[in-house]
Amino acid sequence: MSTSAAQAHRTDADRMSDPNWWRQAAVYQIYPRSFHDANGDGLGDIKGITAKVPYLKELGIDAVWLSPFYPSALADGGYDVDDYRNVDPKLGTLEDFDEMAAALHEAGIKIVVDIVPNHSSDRHEWFKEALASPRGSAARERYIFRDGRGENGELPPSDWDSVFGGPIWDRITEPDGTPGQWYLHIFAKEQPDFNWENPEIREDFLKTLRFWSDRGVDGFRIDVAHGMAKDLSEPLPMKADLEAKAHGTDGFTDGSHPFWDRDEVHEVYAEWRKLFNEYNPPRTAVAEAWVHESRRARYASPEGLGQAFNFDLLQSDFDAASFKKIITDNLVAAKESGASSTWVFSNHDVVRHATRYGLPKGGSKAQGTNAAQDVTGGTKGQDGKGWLLAGAPAEELDVELGLRRARAATLLLLALPGSAYLYQGEELGLREVSEIPDAERQDPSFFRNPGVEIGRDGCRVPLPWTAEGPSFGFGAGAAHLPQPDWFADYAVARQDGVEGSTLELYREALRLRSELQTDEELEWVETGNQDVLHFSRPGGWHTVTNFGSNPVELPEGNVVAASGPLEDGKLPSDTTAWVVRSA
Ligand code: GLC
Repeated sequence: MSTSAAQAHRTDADRMSDPNWWRQAAVYQIYPRSFHDANGDGLGDIKGITAKVPYLKELGIDAVWLSPFYPSALADGGYDVDDYRNVDPKLGTLEDFDEMAAALHEAGIKIVVDIVPNHSSDRHEWFKEALASPRGSAARERYIFRDGRGENGELPPSDWDSVFGGPIWDRITEPDGTPGQWYLHIFAKEQPDFNWENPEIREDFLKTLRFWSDRGVDGFRIDVAHGMAKDLSEPLPMKADLEAKAHGTDGFTDGSHPFWDRDEVHEVYAEWRKLFNEYNPPRTAVAEAWVHESRRARYASPEGLGQAFNFDLLQSDFDAASFKKIITDNLVAAKESGASSTWVFSNHDVVRHATRYGLPKGGSKAQGTNAAQDVTGGTKGQDGKGWLLAGAPAEELDVELGLRRARAATLLLLALPGSAYLYQGEELGLREVSEIPDAERQDPSFFRNPGVEIGRDGCRVPLPWTAEGPSFGFGAGAAHLPQPDWFADYAVARQDGVEGSTLELYREALRLRSELQTDEELEWVETGNQDVLHFSRPGGWHTVTNFGSNPVELPEGNVVAASGPLEDGKLPSDTTAWVVRSA
């Protein structure tokens, strides 16, 4: 039996117990509040996910990653966590979670949950205790409190900006009513940063990781994994100093930034890894680390989290040379670190790729220009977050072109060795929703950057399941973010079973991927055309993408999938095909 045939005969049970299941997994990101609303209150919920397990199974993914579903005031879409070991009552209960986990596992789907260790919410019981306790108390030591500068402490300890805009420090009122200390929040002011030098914080997160691992969670996505460790020894550098260094020759590639990507953070991950390895199969983790590529491997090492996102493709134009370089570099880097590579085009933080690729080349129209991120972010080429936030002018968007390229890009991505991270709704070909009225926006980056950022709500609009109904089958009532009329055309029900629909393309590609995938090798095939990329994987699986404007010949073999119709047997512009050649 050939390797790929052997692969095809693997049962769900084999896959579920395989310690390497994550290496080439297709992981589908669910943004729980916008996936499916079972109780009709306008917010997606845990029972909504359980109800859609058959859909996920049919899609053919290996795992789901759930964005935070913990109790939260939603100051930052749930990334402001009140309680790490519970379910938000608006979304369900722990029993609902267990039921969902059982249904997913039954369907052969692994579960990855989001862990947010850099900061809690300001409603976390520890932060409330810190506010109620005096300066210098143990409760204050769990966060980062400092006296202000100036005669009466009226100036913040430093002039740094937060990622969402505005100052990184906020002043509290002391329990006796006097103006008090300042606390650090890299993100929104409702997200106070933890003090990771405090052993109590470390212990508590181990407890959280154990809590979810014991509940059957298979892996973790670590939010802002390059945060946490900090050197805030006095005197603190000024914003201008950080900026100058960030844009200097070496940037912060030596780990010397006061709060991004410091080496000490890996001590934490080494401890986590020991815990992960106590389980069978070991729990997995993937780092969200917007760091310079030379420092990514540290996060992905087997002694650390094991895998790290690379957002390089996501930040690239739809361009052959750029794609080729990124793929090559990342495969080399993955091999060096012992991890497998990760690939992603869309997530809950960025403009959807069907929109990005429909904008004029240069991509800058879709790229955020948040100066605050740039300043606090650190190294050259690593602007802290690198989010693509800014709103794209709708009149410049070519919807058809964007979708065509998005489909081509996705078919290419699904053929790459490593894990593919997909974001809910991309399998429907959804583009960014740009028509959300200001009054209905929710993202703090919109409110903290008036007139500069429109924020990330446009990729978080609840999914359309049916072409009719008050929220296109999302729930029984209106959705928490308004859905545009054009969602009807993209509804699951409209695409289900329809040949050539984006949903059917994803289903078919994911099915073939699990059959064709072998080891993590990729070989480039010279095409003699700079606009055409061609690579092969062991077992005779060839992928060709035409980034140019004229149709090109395909290699000999059986065309098993294509992102769009061929023209007289040729591969047209902005299209990808998979060709299988028998050995
Ligand atoms: C991560 C999340 C983002 C969130 C931020 C702060 O980057 O992906 O959505 O706003 O962390 O927690």
